[in-house]
Amino acid sequence: MAEKKAVLKIGQKEFEFDIQSGTLGPDVIDITSLFKTGYFTYDSGFNSTAACESKITFIDGEKGILLYRGYPIEALARKSNFIEVCYLLINGELPTEQEYKTFASDIVHHTMVHEQIRNFFNGFRRDAHPMAIMVGVVGALSAFYHDTLDIKNPDHRHVSALRLIAKMPTIAAMCYKYSIGQPFMPPQNKLSYAENFLHMMFGTPCEETKPDPIIARALDRIFILHADHEQNASTSTVRLAGSTGANPFACISAGIGALWGPAHGGANEAVLSMLHEIGDASQISKFIERAKNPNDPFRLMGFGHRVYKNYDPRAKVMRETCHEVLEAVGAHNDPIFNLAMELEKIALQDAYFVEKKLYPNVDFYSGITLSAIGIPTNMFTVIFALARTVGWVAQWNEMISNPYRLGRPRQLYTGPAQRDFVDLKERC
Ligand code: CMC
Repeated sequence: MAEKKAVLKIGQKEFEFDIQSGTLGPDVIDITSLFKTGYFTYDSGFNSTAACESKITFIDGEKGILLYRGYPIEALARKSNFIEVCYLLINGELPTEQEYKTFASDIVHHTMVHEQIRNFFNGFRRDAHPMAIMVGVVGALSAFYHDTLDIKNPDHRHVSALRLIAKMPTIAAMCYKYSIGQPFMPPQNKLSYAENFLHMMFGTPCEETKPDPIIARALDRIFILHADHEQNASTSTVRLAGSTGANPFACISAGIGALWGPAHGGANEAVLSMLHEIGDASQISKFIERAKNPNDPFRLMGFGHRVYKNYDPRAKVMRETCHEVLEAVGAHNDPIFNLAMELEKIALQDAYFVEKKLYPNVDFYSGITLSAIGIPTNMFTVIFALARTVGWVAQWNEMISNPYRLGRPRQLYTGPAQRDFVDLKERC
């Protein structure tokens, strides 16, 4: 029995609801039984609604805190690596040395894709957006593993998780290679996860590539920072799809579709488009004024966040990495990067952005960093999807391993009341 109760008074009637407490964060009023009163809640955009219980990630948007399984994101980004973070997100604890070795080796041994997967690529135009290819190819993976798709079987869930984490860089790099007409590069087991991705992206059969350690480290950090983020739009999509009993590849494919939009994962791509649209520093004030104008739909991409009303902790770490990479590739004098730094400075001082707490978010810096690494803009969201796959899988697995119900939101219907059908000829 919950100790604290909330009382809802509607007219003369009173209804009592349990209040539940988590480890951190606001208490929640459990309104599961509210529908019995004849009412639903209305919460467009899920501003005040917890749709699930989870032990994976915690965000305090006011204080600018992000924890994976209790560990601050800054510590993980500085002291850990992406594979260790994947283990942590999926299993709940940091691995021992032996557990780490086994997990890393398991991932490495699932990086290849079935030869038939190549054929899917040939069905796409060369100029297809890589996210369009990604949605299709990841969904199609479910056609290759019929024998391990029983979602009630923990071993099947585990091998699906490994496959997804391991194959995403391979598929992502294939999307790129296909678009530029170069041969697909097979993964190499001796390389780290980030190095392998760089090798499959930029290597060619004619030349051995040696990934730059600063770039590989930066990419690994981007993966860590994007690995999970609580119940965001794409994760909620994965959970909703998963609640129907759909297989994990179909669910992750649904998540990729949700991530694509510019208000979510598409923002890092939109940042670069915006910087090119602004053109040079003399135009910044014009665009800042447009962003402030309530009648103009233009927004400064890479600024603001639904949950963080303080500096995005991921952005803090990403900012450092961004500067390291700009230095390493000698892009500090590149006009687009100078423009980005100028925009950051002005937006951080502008009364509108300060008052509304619209700080630069992680995508502002990740977009600039990826661009400096030489990754084409249309691949940015693909890289976000690659990194977020572990979060999606961990959240999906958490849901399936515990009691859950089909996700089925209700609505406030404002359409026509019931009316009689009129035959076509009688309609005027
Ligand atoms: N530029 C200008 N004004 C903005 C911006 C912006 N980037 N973001 C929010 N505002 C204003 C908005 O117009 C509104 O003003 P008012 O109160 O006068 O109506 C106020 O700030 C609150 O905005 P909101 O749209 O109610 O806030 P939200 O929580 O629904 O939006 C957001 C969050 C991320 C969609 C929004 O800040 C935005 O569109 N930012 C640009 C896109 C972006 O960078 N997205 C990446 C988010 S981080 C990646 C991820 O975690 O997925």
